[in-house]
Amino acid sequence: MSPVENVKVEICISHSVDLIARYSSVILFIQDITVKGLEIVKRCETVYLESYTSILVDGKDELEQFYGREVIVADRELVETGADQILNEAKTKDVAFLVVGDPFGATTHTDIVLRAKQLDIKVQVVHNASILNAVGACGLQLYSFGETVSIPFWTDTWKPDSFYDKIEENKKRGLHTLCLLDIKVKEPNLEAMMRGKVLYDPPRFMTVAQAAEQLLEIVASRENSALKSSDRCVGVARIGSPTQKIVWCTLEDMAALDVGAPLHSVVIPGNLHPLEEDFLKEFLCSC
Ligand SMILES: C[S@@+](CC[C@H](N)C(=O)[O-])C[C@H]1O[C@@H](n2cnc3c(N)ncnc32)[C@H](O)[C@@H]1O
Repeated sequence: MSPVENVKVEICISHSVDLIARYSSVILFIQDITVKGLEIVKRCETVYLESYTSILVDGKDELEQFYGREVIVADRELVETGADQILNEAKTKDVAFLVVGDPFGATTHTDIVLRAKQLDIKVQVVHNASILNAVGACGLQLYSFGETVSIPFWTDTWKPDSFYDKIEENKKRGLHTLCLLDIKVKEPNLEAMMRGKVLYDPPRFMTVAQAAEQLLEIVASRENSALKSSDRCVGVARIGSPTQKIVWCTLEDMAALDVGAPLHSVVIPGNLHPLEEDFLKEFLCSC
């Protein structure tokens, strides 16, 4: 095999959505890598682990112990500005790029695959479970979901709400909406930046309560909103882990709900099939 044929970026999803999360120290369920993915990790010369579209960070030591090799944690800076470095390396070596969930479960990774293809670097993708399908654990049927939305953290001066139009569209068509919640990891601290220093804010993961609060504000600001504060929504946390939590309650109650450590997502149900309703009753909470 010529060196050119030998080079590739292997994108394998390692840990699915299974993770154990604690407040300050979050580790993945390292056994969730697929057999195929593990073989690739063992064979590749360099292994990167993407760490900003989902949780990881502190599990590096356990991960390296399990894989029996070094893992380079790739934060946003490395993936967005240093992608050339990863791709250049892949011109001459086998490189693995691990993603939590499915590699195509976040738009960011489509870009690296496209760029690798443009550079004639062979890419092999290994799929794994994603929040996009694991959310089925709440009992809502996956084929009855409409477009997925992302809810961003608001600031005092920046409150984008265009995602809400998609929730309304889905709801009008009787479809459920999976709302992925914002993650802020390695965000530069603006005050420090103004003093010419590079400091990062602590990581933040949006909770179901924060998402519900923002949704309530939008609902209150719209006339004839399809979603009402009294509508029951589903809050999910740490899906796939032993501490997974699912709660079905009104949007109003959700704003005061504590479902524990990240990661969290919210589902806005559309029309419910009787079987879906039966399943959801298990998670009913009049909190
Ligand atoms: C940008 S998405 C990345 C999805 C990932 N690539 C995948 O395929 O699962 C990250 C968001 O998905 C949701 N999420 C991911 N894993 C989750 C889990 N285990 N339980 C609940 N929500 C989860 C959270 O809202 C989180 O902020």
